[in-house]
Amino acid sequence: MKAILYSKSDSGDVLQLEEIEKPVPADNEVLIKVHAASVNPLDYHLLKHAFLRRVMSGRKIARPGRDVAGQVEAVGKDVTQFKPGDEVFGASHGAFAEYTCARESALAMKPPNVSFEQAASSPVAGLTALQGLRDKAQIQPGQKVLINGAAGGVGTFAVQIAKSFGAEVTGVCSTGNVELVRSLGADHVIDYTRADFTSTGQQYDVIYDLVANHSFSEHKRALTRNGIYIGAGILGLHGSMFPVLAGQMTELVLSAFVKQKFTSFMAKLNREDLTALGELMESGKVTPVIDRHYSLSETAEAVRYVEERHARGKVIIDCRLA
Ligand SMILES: NC(=O)c1ccc[n+]([C@@H]2O[C@H](COP(=O)([O-])OP(=O)(O)OC[C@H]3O[C@@H](n4cnc5c(N)ncnc54)[C@H](OP(=O)(O)O)[C@@H]3O)[C@@H](O)[C@H]2O)c1
Repeated sequence: MKAILYSKSDSGDVLQLEEIEKPVPADNEVLIKVHAASVNPLDYHLLKHAFLRRVMSGRKIARPGRDVAGQVEAVGKDVTQFKPGDEVFGASHGAFAEYTCARESALAMKPPNVSFEQAASSPVAGLTALQGLRDKAQIQPGQKVLINGAAGGVGTFAVQIAKSFGAEVTGVCSTGNVELVRSLGADHVIDYTRADFTSTGQQYDVIYDLVANHSFSEHKRALTRNGIYIGAGILGLHGSMFPVLAGQMTELVLSAFVKQKFTSFMAKLNREDLTALGELMESGKVTPVIDRHYSLSETAEAVRYVEERHARGKVIIDCRLA
């Protein structure tokens, strides 16, 4: 089968299409014929930092691609929830391929009225939005919620999910994305090229930050007395993740001295939340925003595009097109 692999070049690791053996599912895994995958910032961080690949996969070389949607072709002997022919979505290691194996617990059934591309766009970005707002922020109807980075993969899910909880939502994006963010249901949109959301005098009950481009005191100023700041952009929209991590550690330390809450957050994959996300998409409360489609052989280009940090929603790899 055709798959994208990490490959060494003079300028560092690159992504390359190669012919490899079709994988065999472990006892708790499902073999999926991949219809679509989607790109996350994690994909370019893993490409650039081999040590992260070791930490995250427990193996020296993992294949790239996390978000996947497709059809079950075979199941391991301990799998009880899925059977060949089922249409599923979720997360695997190696989604940029014609076939991939995923743990049963990292998959859910794809709702019939949700396309493979929509389903593939949702696992990492959708779960980050859902868990950040529902679990970390414990979002309530009527609360003022600000999403910094509202036009991106996570942000486009976050705006819609915050609205589905009945919040009054403000999205922050650049001029060209103001109409997109408004169309997702945002009550207010701040164009960051014209105004800084921390200097408008407005205060928010929840700031969900996917960009990490303001200081602790700026965030504090923009929060209500009991407000919560959640930094999910741990890997940073900036060139390196280390300044972002250092900034977020500083915020966590300083937050011990103020009334407001400052926290960071990593999404966790689980079937229950994937199913909840599927229901949000099935009901039309959340419609994934898809920016571009690439074929499997164009994966490296797709990852480079996302690395430019101005994708509008999600970028899809159509894995049936080599
Ligand atoms: N904690 C977790 O579990 C978790 C999970 C997934 C992702 N993340 C992190 O969350 C962040 C966002 O992920 P993503 O998938 O949404 O990334 P993405 O799709 O690449 O985000 C791109 C978006 O960022 C916006 N943006 C760039 N500069 C901005 C600025 N100064 N102010 C406001 N928006 C700005 C862009 O909007 P414009 O074009 O309008 O500028 C673009 O739409 C990344 O750092 C990622 O690593 C964390």
